[in-house]
Amino acid sequence: MGARHGLRRGHAAASSACPFLAFAVVLLALPSLAAGDTHYYTFNVQMTNVTRLCVTKSIPTVNGQFPGPKLTVREGDRLVVKVHNHINYNVSFHWHGVRQLRNGWADGPSYITQCPIQGGQSYTYDFTITGQRGTLWWHAHFSWLRVHLYGPLVILPKRGEGYPFPRPYKEVPIHFGEWFNGDTETIINQALLTGGGPNISDAYTFNGLPGPTYNCSAQDMADTYKLKVKPGRTYMLRLINSALNDELFFGIANHTLTVVEADANYVKPFTVQTLVISPGQTMNVLLTTPPNPSSPSYAMAISPYTNTQGTFDNTTAAAILEYAPTPASRMSLPLPSLPLYNDTGAVTNFSRNFRSLASAEYPAVVPQAPDRHVLFTVGLGTDPCNLSNQTCQGPNGTKFAASINNNSFFRPRTALLEAHYQRRYAGVLLANFPTTPPHPFNYTGTPPNNTFVQHGTRVVPLAFNTSVELVLQGTSIQGAESHPLHLHGYDFYVVGQGFGNFDPVNDPPKYNLVDPVERNTISVPTAGWVALRFFADNPGVWLMHCHFDVHLSWGLSMAWLVNDGPLPNQKMLPPPSDLPKC
Ligand code: C2O
Repeated sequence: MGARHGLRRGHAAASSACPFLAFAVVLLALPSLAAGDTHYYTFNVQMTNVTRLCVTKSIPTVNGQFPGPKLTVREGDRLVVKVHNHINYNVSFHWHGVRQLRNGWADGPSYITQCPIQGGQSYTYDFTITGQRGTLWWHAHFSWLRVHLYGPLVILPKRGEGYPFPRPYKEVPIHFGEWFNGDTETIINQALLTGGGPNISDAYTFNGLPGPTYNCSAQDMADTYKLKVKPGRTYMLRLINSALNDELFFGIANHTLTVVEADANYVKPFTVQTLVISPGQTMNVLLTTPPNPSSPSYAMAISPYTNTQGTFDNTTAAAILEYAPTPASRMSLPLPSLPLYNDTGAVTNFSRNFRSLASAEYPAVVPQAPDRHVLFTVGLGTDPCNLSNQTCQGPNGTKFAASINNNSFFRPRTALLEAHYQRRYAGVLLANFPTTPPHPFNYTGTPPNNTFVQHGTRVVPLAFNTSVELVLQGTSIQGAESHPLHLHGYDFYVVGQGFGNFDPVNDPPKYNLVDPVERNTISVPTAGWVALRFFADNPGVWLMHCHFDVHLSWGLSMAWLVNDGPLPNQKMLPPPSDLPKC
């Protein structure tokens, strides 16, 4: 396989064959070749003018496209993505949900698995999709650049393998996103300086389009996402929440949705009117259109779910499900009724439906007796004000911070994975990240008086193949809210969740160890906890973080350092020669 396959046409805008001949030949000498096809893509990161809500901005794009190119591959295929950075920001790309077995070099978070790609530099992400199929996505992993730099990564089943549900008539990726009229890098840098909450977005978007509910957008149907459908067919929507800071409700007026997959793992199908999806998460849903629709079009809508004490974008974005063209009446379509923004009950009712297939073909291999029990508190906190002539804009004149077990992650200046590979830890990281809360308190009750966080670049070291139980406990410091936690390099089983404080005696007996859902991103319930289990069978340094970019910027992240195992196929692969330097 390899070179020839990769040179075929049909990879749409992202493909570029000829310059890669020499490159492809070199790669043939590397190990890691799977039985699948190889797909070559070129990502030219460049500035592009884009207009939304009557505001024209120059934004970073991949090949001039916003949202970025869709990559379609099969389970077992290899992707070779050559990134050329032509912009003035550093950039790196993360293939969200791809396990990157032994190959953290292709995972992408800046300063964790690689130094960022500087302006004028290039880096090639070379990885194989092993044992995964479904909807994932790619996004930038430097500062807030993912607000614009994202696209779908569709992994079809192997040739000849079907879905565990009837084959849909058509499949459509839909990114939910956020649009800011201002410059997002300025917004977050300002906020980090003053300590206050960053400005909120001006609109939500469907595949980059805000739609008719916003001023300056309503008159222009080019700003509205339209999904053309036929009556009496089944469509599969590949939903991706690529919003920066908001969990979202989604529904379609007069239609139901059957969830069949979450984070590229099949689930036992269940049908709902409204779903909720957190930043980072993906969900495949089947939409069966009625044979005789009573209206030529229906509205789809997204709106936020949050319990934040700060401000948030409390708008609703709409898109059109269109059976037949309807020029005049389009603006006045009734929106689907979505839950109120703080309806935690609706979120709980929805999330308890998820079960993995746990079949012979797609088994649930859940750790039954974990070697390690880890308890992490996740939530907000504060830092003292460090401005000389000004008060800070955070709570009571402090600065906002966020932490796991009161440790706010200090982003290193060099890549942790490289330091680990070279066993060069001094001055880079400490292997003493706390695995229980350093100062236990009533996490979901009255917060402690002192909410200052510690700072450090700490990791939890794990022996290869350790089975881990991780309980994520939300706190009420600066207000209880849910946090979508994403683990790089792994999927985990969600064995339990609840409200209040986790009870190590009475909660574990209620775990689902039979068919828990397997995901890469899970929301810690508002003022509650969630229990996860996984086998640490993928050596490397793996970031875990809140997928709200504002919380990530405030330090709500940590890393697991999973050591090599004894066998040759349990060790990290060597770094590629073009790995960027800091
Ligand atoms: Cu989708 Cu570390 O992120």
